[in-house]
Amino acid sequence: MKDRPGRIRFNFNDSNQISFHEESCSMSDSSADLDRMITGYWISQAIYAAAKFGIADHLQEGPQSVDTLAAVTSTNPGALYRLLRALASVGIFAENGEGQFELTPLAEPLRSDVPGSKRALALMSGDEQFKAWAEIEYSIRTGEIAFDKVFGKPIFDYLGEHPEKARIFDAAMVGIHGRESDAIAKAYDFSGINVVADIGGGNGSQMIGLLQQESSLKGIVFDLPHVVERAKENVEYAGLTDRCALVGGNFFEAVPGGADLYMMRHIIHDWHEDKALAILRNCHAAMPEGGKLLVVESVIPPGNEPFGGKFLDLVMLLIPGGKERTEEEYRTLFAQANFELTRVIPTDTEVSIVEAVKR
Ligand SMILES: C[S@@+](CC[C@H](N)C(=O)[O-])C[C@H]1O[C@@H](n2cnc3c(N)ncnc32)[C@H](O)[C@@H]1O
Repeated sequence: MKDRPGRIRFNFNDSNQISFHEESCSMSDSSADLDRMITGYWISQAIYAAAKFGIADHLQEGPQSVDTLAAVTSTNPGALYRLLRALASVGIFAENGEGQFELTPLAEPLRSDVPGSKRALALMSGDEQFKAWAEIEYSIRTGEIAFDKVFGKPIFDYLGEHPEKARIFDAAMVGIHGRESDAIAKAYDFSGINVVADIGGGNGSQMIGLLQQESSLKGIVFDLPHVVERAKENVEYAGLTDRCALVGGNFFEAVPGGADLYMMRHIIHDWHEDKALAILRNCHAAMPEGGKLLVVESVIPPGNEPFGGKFLDLVMLLIPGGKERTEEEYRTLFAQANFELTRVIPTDTEVSIVEAVKR
C-alpha cells in the first residue's frame, strides 16, 4: 500500500522565500494545512492593511490603545481592533493586558525605518500585485500578463508614471532581495575586477554593498532614468559618489561600456525569451572580449522539491511577463546571445550566480 503523504508545512525562511517541509500527519492535519494555504491571502491582506495604515510605525514609541491608533490613522476603531486582534493571533502585534497593542518581533520589520524593512514589500504585494494575482485564471488560460490586463500597461511603464509606487517598488526590492547582496559578495570573488556594471541596478543597494566590501572596486549603476535619480540619493548618502557612476537609459537600446564585469540581478527573469535576449545582446556588445557576466536568479532545480523560485516564477508570469529558468534554459539562452555558461554558483540564499563568459 502506498504511504499517505505527510503534512507539508510552509513558512518564510531567512531569505524571504517560502520554505516547505514534510511531517508525518493525519488526514485532518493535512486538511487544516490545505485550508491555511487556500486562505493564505487573509493573512497577507491583513498585513497589507496594517502596513498601509503604518500601524507598526505608530507603535514604535510603545504600546497604544486602539482608539489612539484609530485617531492617528483615520480608521474605524472597531474595525481596526478586529484587524489587530486577527494579526496578533498569528504573532504580528500583541494585545497587552491593558487594552493596548504593541510590537512583536514579527511586527518590527513592518516599521518603515528599520534596516531590511518589509513595509514596502507588504504594500507592493497587497496592492497592485494582489490585483494582478486576482487575474491568475486569465494568465494561465492565455499565457498573457495579468498585470497588463488589470492596469492597461506593463509594470515598468506604470511605475514610470507613478513616482510614489516606483519608490515603494525600489524599497520592496530591498525588502525581498536585500539579504542577497551580502550573500553574492560572499559567494563570488570580485578581487582583480576594476569596474562592475550593475545593469538594472535599481536603487543601487547591491552596488553600494559591493563597493563597501571591495575598496578598490568602481561601479556603474544603470537603470531607467527615473530610477537612477533615486539611486543617486542612496549612493551620495553612502559617500560613494566618486566610485560609482549612475547612468540612466533603456537596456533594450544599449547598456554602458567601460566595465570589466557585468551583473544583472533579477533582470532576466522579468522577461520572456525575445526581450531577455535583447538585453543579453546589448550587454554582449558593451563588454570587452572574454568579459564575464553574472546573472543572479533563482535557478529552478529539477524535481518536486520545495523551492520558493517556483512561486516567484508565477509572479513573473503574472506581473512583468517573465519566467524563472533552469540551468539548462540559461545555458541555451546565453548561447543564443553568444555567451558560454561557465558556472552556477550557489549562495547562502535561494539565488544562484549564473556566470557566463563572452564568446
Ligand atoms: C526586479 S527589479 C531588480 C532591481 C535590482 N537589480 C534588484 O535586484 O533589486 C528590475 C529592474 O529593472 C529595471 N528596468 C526595467 N526596465 C528597464 C529598461 N528598459 N532599461 C533599464 N532598466 C530597466 C527596473 O527599473 C528595475 O530596477
